[in-house]
Amino acid sequence: MLVKNGTIVNAKGMLKADIYLELGKIRRIGKNMKMQGEETIDASGLFVLPGMVDAHVHLRDFREVSKEDYFTGTSAALAGGVTSVIDMPNNSLPTISMQNLEAKKFVAGRKAVCNYGFHFGATPDNFEEAAIAARDPSIASLKIYMGSSTGSLLLDDFSALYCHLASFKKTITLHAEDEHAIRHFSKQHGLMENEEDLRGAKHTKATIHSKIRNEMVAELAVTRALSAASKTSAKLHFAHVSTKKEVDLISAAKRKKMRITCEVSPHHIFLDDSLTKKLGNFAKVNPPLRGKKTVLELWSALKSGKIDILATDHAPHLREEKELGYWEAPSGMPGLDTALLLMLDAVNKRRLSLQKVVSLYSYMPSKVFKIYNKGEIAVGKDADLVLVDLKAKTKISKEKLFTKCGWSPYEGTQIQGAIRRTILAGKTAYDGESVISRMGEGKELRFGKI
Ligand code: DOR
Ligand code: ZN
Repeated sequence: MLVKNGTIVNAKGMLKADIYLELGKIRRIGKNMKMQGEETIDASGLFVLPGMVDAHVHLRDFREVSKEDYFTGTSAALAGGVTSVIDMPNNSLPTISMQNLEAKKFVAGRKAVCNYGFHFGATPDNFEEAAIAARDPSIASLKIYMGSSTGSLLLDDFSALYCHLASFKKTITLHAEDEHAIRHFSKQHGLMENEEDLRGAKHTKATIHSKIRNEMVAELAVTRALSAASKTSAKLHFAHVSTKKEVDLISAAKRKKMRITCEVSPHHIFLDDSLTKKLGNFAKVNPPLRGKKTVLELWSALKSGKIDILATDHAPHLREEKELGYWEAPSGMPGLDTALLLMLDAVNKRRLSLQKVVSLYSYMPSKVFKIYNKGEIAVGKDADLVLVDLKAKTKISKEKLFTKCGWSPYEGTQIQGAIRRTILAGKTAYDGESVISRMGEGKELRFGKI
């Protein structure tokens, strides 16, 4: 395939040139290329980016196929310009044993339409399994939930946290919210004391969520993890940072040459907690949406390079679950269909450059998790591309979503920008309207050693 006349955007530069793709790889980049008999895509007026790499998604499947499965989740990815996803372990089946990992590989291998890999889940006692998983190239990292969230994975005990940090030989990804602090604030706000009575309580408003899981809850967990990492030399990646305090702590640790990176999720920079009044539990997410001031602080952290990657935390839940009472409604929102669109809109609003988007959502995730063939448009790299139009408009509407959950907190938003085509391994996988890629065409990702 020949992609002609587009503007190539890499994290480190832009270039107007043609790209020749063959056998799943980028073979040549040059001006005025002509290849006889090749499918030619005219990318005039479009920007050609390396396919996005989303390091934080919950693709459900198994007992949660009603919310999402590997086909619908990876279809949402392709429609959103994402060609590689890394699945979190807290779904049901949890990725906490090699047996469960093999089952997930089997199902994803048959259903995925984009590339996929896995994070392995830490439990208080799965050290041996984690050591085996660390050697498996399909495992990106060990995910530790320091605070409870969807599913039952939790490591609120310091000794288990410390032992995992001391022994796991790949990156460790942290959900940094302190469980003890969450419990404290839940009690203080009248929840938990009398849990039974409160189940289904309609009077508890979703706005309580950001009071229970307040900014201190995140700060405490980051502090604890950084202390443990300084003594164990673990390589840490902080998922979905949502406060300036976390970013400052992480930046200070980076200055001390600790091996630390962090990510931000679209909902923490495009939404704020005032939306909870309108959307109720549809805006309930862990960590919660923050105030407007914090959102602006996250934008400056992004611009100054203190945040390494963007990842959606795509967490589909059904409408009927979100309509339950505060206590029962699950946390999380979908994001794969919409993340790149929101970023394109931000580029048009001059909040950041297109190169920075590529850095945050393709190049750096590939670097952090050591996916050597992705994240860049260069000869020899995998032919995963996304063609975007900054001049066209897109309206986010539920009818156009590919995620099975069928709703979005951005419903009705007008985006300045459009995703015209997603190319996977040198073939059109999404044509701007439909997913063309077939079930099983997604390939298992390979994560290098650290
Ligand atoms: O809001 C969230 N939802 N945060 C998480 O950490 C997990 C996710 C989910 O799996 O639903
Ligand atoms: Zn998550």
